[in-house]
Amino acid sequence: ATQTQANIGVVGMAVMGSNLARNLASREGNTVAIFNRSYEKTQTVLDEHPEAEFIPASSYEEFAASLTKPRTAIIMVQAGKGTDAVIDALTEVFEPGDIIVDGGNALFTDTIRREKAVRETGINFVGAGISGGEEGALLGPSIMPGGSAEAWETLGPILKSIAAVVDGEPCVTHVGTDGAGHFVKMIHNGIEYADMQLIGEAYDLIRRGTGKTPAEIAEIFAEWNKGELESYLIEITAEVLRQVDAETGKPLVDVILDQAGSKGTGVWTVQTSLDLGIPVSGIAEAVFARSVSSKPAQRAAAAALPGPTANPVEDVDGFIEGVRLALYASKVIAYSQGFDAIVAGAEQYGWDIKKGEIAKIWRGGCIIRARFLNRITEAYAENPGLVSLVTAPFFTDVVATAQESWRNVVADAAHAGIPAPVFASSLAYYDSLRADRLPAALTQGQRDFFGAHTYKRVDKEGTFHTLWSGDR
Ligand code: NAP
Ligand code: ATR
Repeated sequence: ATQTQANIGVVGMAVMGSNLARNLASREGNTVAIFNRSYEKTQTVLDEHPEAEFIPASSYEEFAASLTKPRTAIIMVQAGKGTDAVIDALTEVFEPGDIIVDGGNALFTDTIRREKAVRETGINFVGAGISGGEEGALLGPSIMPGGSAEAWETLGPILKSIAAVVDGEPCVTHVGTDGAGHFVKMIHNGIEYADMQLIGEAYDLIRRGTGKTPAEIAEIFAEWNKGELESYLIEITAEVLRQVDAETGKPLVDVILDQAGSKGTGVWTVQTSLDLGIPVSGIAEAVFARSVSSKPAQRAAAAALPGPTANPVEDVDGFIEGVRLALYASKVIAYSQGFDAIVAGAEQYGWDIKKGEIAKIWRGGCIIRARFLNRITEAYAENPGLVSLVTAPFFTDVVATAQESWRNVVADAAHAGIPAPVFASSLAYYDSLRADRLPAALTQGQRDFFGAHTYKRVDKEGTFHTLWSGDR
């Protein structure tokens, strides 16, 4: 046995864990211990990556013994039961002061529960959202760690060394205590759903509105990617639309079954936001759009329902520019709503989350990385108490420039019978925020009528109930 010890360990040698371990090993000063439940995977990683000089362990005891103190281990295993099993095993062999990091996609409430349980043993527990898929894990992810300040002291430098770097700054920050990191990662994924659906709606509107081919639309997205919409998702959209199916010679997008699945983080975002009372309508519509797509029987049964006769778009270039502006405005709304959920979550769970820092660490390594995120950081730097992102001067300008096109595109979509649920709901949300008076007054009247729920008045303090003629 070798005397060498590792300063960091990784548990779970599937795709994510092995890539993260290789990333760690490639950084100056790190020696990495690795462990996997079944040893074959550890052996494969050792064989394939001798350059990493991993210290393999075949038991949790051996793994613990191979780590310098305070021991620091990152778990990258199947979320849920797998994570709980590994945490239980590590708490047996670790000591007070050591650090267990869960880098999987845990539900933040699980992280809150686990942190509490692990803390009782004196061991630090950090729930870290890690975004960027396999490639991010290997080359530099965006990392959203939540845990104690003490753990961050040891862990911070290690995570900074492996994170994506943008403008010289690593895409990692101490998000807050316990579940804060996984909460923010969840919202990241929710925003990702809205972003992807918006791009899908833009594609569909252009394709069905103008008859352009996927290859032609790929060029439009490539062009958009040179401007204010520049982002990873716009970039890969161009690539996906350009792809030709080798078997049939058709655009690949026409061969892929149009039923979108999900692993559930979008659903978590919406469920959580409903509980917090935050309207994340863009994200919710994006989740629902996937649900609708995945109901083939209903879609087949509805295929013959009446729709409008299609009128081809006359000003093609103007229409495409309108769609671009509508996409940008709707995207501002999706992020605005996502940050509202972060603010509400922070308040509910007692986290001190720096919104500007979150936008900053999403600039690299993760799926929603985009130029636009700098503007969010700036907006929160200017006004940390911003009540809604869309009211920041920069974003107000974006929407002011876009709004006429946005309205036209939503109206065109309705006229043409092309679904654009996130475009439309984002606009409805925007107009709701703007409204001088909302019909909520009528709702309150109805509630008071049928349930004596009472209401408040605009002209004086107090709670009121009317003796409606229908009262019994
Ligand atoms: P995975 O397929 O989610 O999980 C496989 C790993 O979990 C294997 O190492 C497996 O060990 C281990 N495992 C499962 N049950 C276990 C148990 N009861 N005890 C000990 N180990 C157990 O792997 P992954 O795709 O690399 O993802 C790892 C984590 O990262 C997940 O939480 C995932 O959600 C998250 N994540 C994934 C991505 C992505 O793009 N895939 C991106 C970000 C985050 P055995 O080999 O012994 O079965
Ligand atoms: P990231 O932080 O990189 O977004 P992730 O959330 O684990 O990491 O996965 C990236 C995206 O790829 C996710 O949004 C997920 O989409 P869904 O939540 O819609 O499923 C998708 N993804 C990852 N692994 C997947 C898998 N095994 N099956 C289907 N989709 C997967």
